[in-house]
Amino acid sequence: MASPRITVIGLGYLGATHAAAMAELGFEVLGLDVVPEKMRKLEQGSAPMFEPGLEELLRSHVAGVEGSSGRLRFTDSWEEIAAFGDIHFLCVNTPQKHGEYGCDMSYVDRAVDSLAPHLERPALVVGKSTVPVGSAERLAARIAALAPAGADAELAWNPEFLREGFAVKDTLHPDRIVIGVGGPRAEALLRDVYATPVAEGTPFLVTDFPTAELVKTSANSFLATKISFINAMAEVCEAAGGDVVKLAEAIGHDDRIGRKFLRAGIGFGGGCLPKDIRAFMARAGELGASEALTFLREVDSINMRRRAQMVELAREALGGALLGKRIAVLGATFKPDSDDVRDSPALNVAGQLHLQGAQVTVYDPKGMHNARAVFPTLGYAPSALDAARGADVVLHLTEWAEFKELDPAALGDVTAARHILDGRNTLDPTLWRKAGWTFRALGRPTL
Ligand code: UGA
Repeated sequence: MASPRITVIGLGYLGATHAAAMAELGFEVLGLDVVPEKMRKLEQGSAPMFEPGLEELLRSHVAGVEGSSGRLRFTDSWEEIAAFGDIHFLCVNTPQKHGEYGCDMSYVDRAVDSLAPHLERPALVVGKSTVPVGSAERLAARIAALAPAGADAELAWNPEFLREGFAVKDTLHPDRIVIGVGGPRAEALLRDVYATPVAEGTPFLVTDFPTAELVKTSANSFLATKISFINAMAEVCEAAGGDVVKLAEAIGHDDRIGRKFLRAGIGFGGGCLPKDIRAFMARAGELGASEALTFLREVDSINMRRRAQMVELAREALGGALLGKRIAVLGATFKPDSDDVRDSPALNVAGQLHLQGAQVTVYDPKGMHNARAVFPTLGYAPSALDAARGADVVLHLTEWAEFKELDPAALGDVTAARHILDGRNTLDPTLWRKAGWTFRALGRPTL
């Protein structure tokens, strides 16, 4: 059989990376996004967001870029997408509904409604977006009803587990592939698509629709729970005078617990974990299973309390008052190696301090543009040193590698006072204290 031709609908972090990765695996790929500026950038071989390695991968495959394979092209025509593709990957976003916990499915629904009426020959639509359990079954029925091909237009669900900052690596070398299918044809097609990673040893798990959808939401809930667990321990350490960093290391040596995702600090943010646990709770409620997930409410509250605790720590460091005080904030993105500021704990803390009267100056290596768009009233500086100039306290809120390399003595020379608060527990307290700084961190003893 000839290689299936692939389309990718929705070209954000997930879709842009998936499209480039499919081209890298040797497939002919056609991408579509409803935001024209995003498509224009991609057509030039530029990534619409900062993601390590993505631009290089795009440039290797986008048609028209010199020296590229030419296997990746873009269109804004649904007819062209339908005519071209044997397999259509749905990668549109599923944000939190405005003012509610539930998941906003309007982008997915619109994509299906735009594509399905053009499916005139056998095709497989593969959902990758994170959706409430039960969506795949509903969408499969909708596709079968709208597509001229009828039952020959099938659906499969193939959740994505990529992390921002590692999107390219996670897509080309996933740690598992999960597909929810309704029949053997979908499985055979997806085995073909993922033949390379499977040959490299990636586990390939075939499930029904609801299990595939739940694998994704339960994985993200587990990760969020792990972070909130260690942050709860940080709260207890603060009360008891313990050190959560040592505690995490010590419990993490137990293989059953593991050391990953036990970094205490200002907690999780981003476009996934916070909204996914909320949507999961909302969906469980609809299914009459809300009791099963009441613990996620606690996971969410612990997470939000850490941001408030960071603000309190800053207030304490400033002698009890924030008004008029100068605060340098290092980091604005929700994690390093990304320019994403969606639900960023760092930006949220910076915003709270600003709203309480402090003069906040932010520096982030890649997220300044996005941070400014969300919070234009904060001050922004072109480097860590510039942000720290004249500051009464420095807050380390996103653990970019360059902040670990900062010279405490040089930074101390430009600040008004040598106070630093580590909201990510990645700076070395000994180094900073040696240079005369008062160093405080969440869940660690004050010296
Ligand atoms: C998360 C999951 O890790 C991916 O597997 C999943 O595919 C993705 O969501 C998604 O649903 O699309 P991501 O949001 O990129 O990926 O970021 P994570 O690495 O999970 O970090 C999330 C947040 O948790 C960040 O704000 C990070 O700073 C925080 N975190 C992480 C901690 O506070 N402590 C830790 O120990 C680890």
